[in-house]
Amino acid sequence: MQISIKLDFQSDESLQNQIFEAIRLQILSGQLAPALLLPSTRVLSEQLGVSRNTTVLAYDRLIAEDYIYSRKTIGTFVNDSLPENSLTLSNRASLSNKKINERAERHFERNPVVFTGRVQDLNNPNREKLDIDFWVGRPDPDSFPTKSWRKIINQILPFSGSEMTKYHDPAGIYELRKSIANHLRPSRGIDAEPDQVIVVNGSQEGLNIISRLLIKQNSPVVAECPCYQGAAYVFESYGAKIHPVNVDEKGLDVGLLPDEPISLAYVTPSHQYPMGATLSLKRRIGLLDWAKSTGAYILEDDYDSDFRHKGSPLTALAGQDPHGCVIYMGTFSKSLGAGLRLGYLVVPKELIEPVRMAKARIDNGSAWLQQAVLAEFISSGAYTKHLRRIRKIYLSRRDCLVESLEKYFGKVQLLGLDGGMHLIWKLPKHLPSSVEMKRISESVGVGVYTLKTGAAHNFEISEYSERTLMIGYSSTPEKLIEEGISRIAKSLENII
Ligand SMILES: Cc1ncc(COP(=O)(O)O)c(C=O)c1O
Repeated sequence: MQISIKLDFQSDESLQNQIFEAIRLQILSGQLAPALLLPSTRVLSEQLGVSRNTTVLAYDRLIAEDYIYSRKTIGTFVNDSLPENSLTLSNRASLSNKKINERAERHFERNPVVFTGRVQDLNNPNREKLDIDFWVGRPDPDSFPTKSWRKIINQILPFSGSEMTKYHDPAGIYELRKSIANHLRPSRGIDAEPDQVIVVNGSQEGLNIISRLLIKQNSPVVAECPCYQGAAYVFESYGAKIHPVNVDEKGLDVGLLPDEPISLAYVTPSHQYPMGATLSLKRRIGLLDWAKSTGAYILEDDYDSDFRHKGSPLTALAGQDPHGCVIYMGTFSKSLGAGLRLGYLVVPKELIEPVRMAKARIDNGSAWLQQAVLAEFISSGAYTKHLRRIRKIYLSRRDCLVESLEKYFGKVQLLGLDGGMHLIWKLPKHLPSSVEMKRISESVGVGVYTLKTGAAHNFEISEYSERTLMIGYSSTPEKLIEEGISRIAKSLENII
């Protein structure tokens, strides 16, 4: 017999593959029936005008994959014992994707995907169209310490063979945990042993680990309102029942905390995300006492506290905690860059082992090389120098933004100026809503953000969002800051 095969001698695909694929599809579609005797490799090679070796290799692969079998001295046959579901395959071979999906829906009860979740807005989809982007919480790309980073990698790499080939403590390499603990003592007032420091792949992993430990379906979790989208969405995906607690100009309104057992309270006391308030000492004490009485762990997300523009660095809530209920979470995404994916948890002693285990379950530890470089970067003093340098840059950018807003809009109501990398502009009544302001600014190539598009979550309580703009300044040089604000002002001239 002859098999109908059309070869494309100009194609990049090898002739052997084309023959294999043509026969395979004909078997699956039923065109070549089970037990059918196939032409010999010699006959087929003559028919197709290819070398014998080509047909032999194609048949060898068909035999290896069980589509055909060969009986010595008799010939080569189509497999007559293909499993039942080969029928489905046969249909697949000639069906469009749409039809396959329709059939799949009719014939199979698919296992439902149990994960449900939303993803925070990490990137502005309109960024390409912007000349000036006041994106929130992004470090200055020109300030990344590339030279020192490269130097350390070059020092470490020649001696790192065995480190690169083995698994390490999932809680992180000791040198890094120690240098983080040493850094936190003077800078954040946290007195922790290196053991209590667990290295994670950014705060996002920290949030997942803590949720894994403390949240099951309907576990009550307190979150600030508004709060960081990334956190709210993680808690939600673990089934938490979230109690939003309002934030005012002094931070979390501790008087509104629920008086019932709570698994976890997620807070940003140094620079409330997104509104920028610093939690007062009185409220901090109230929050810690509340946690003691309700049995809640507090998760302190200290994402951008390296940047304190007024007064001396603040003691973290974890450094003020007499009850041992605060889990501290830090990240290098703001001080160095989110591309590193490095952060850490500092946990009460009873949580060290559960957190280590959870981290091991998720990924068996963070990448060794990044950890080793960062450990050296911190312990050599280069990190402190880097922070000193970028603090100055961010402070003068913040000042430039405030001056520009005042220059073009007069008296402006701004929040969150004392620290961080963004500020909040409470829009006056005569200006359009935050959504409109964003749209108008983008139309002149300038990116500013509403709470929602700035990765904040307000639990559908809109009073915060309608007249609130988030403006980041850390990654925008002064000249562009002034230019961006002037463009927004000009574009509004015909509207207000
Ligand atoms: C409040 C808050 N926490 C944490 C992070 C950092 O997350 P990660 O360390 O996963 O990059 C961000 C980044 O935008 C943030 O805004």
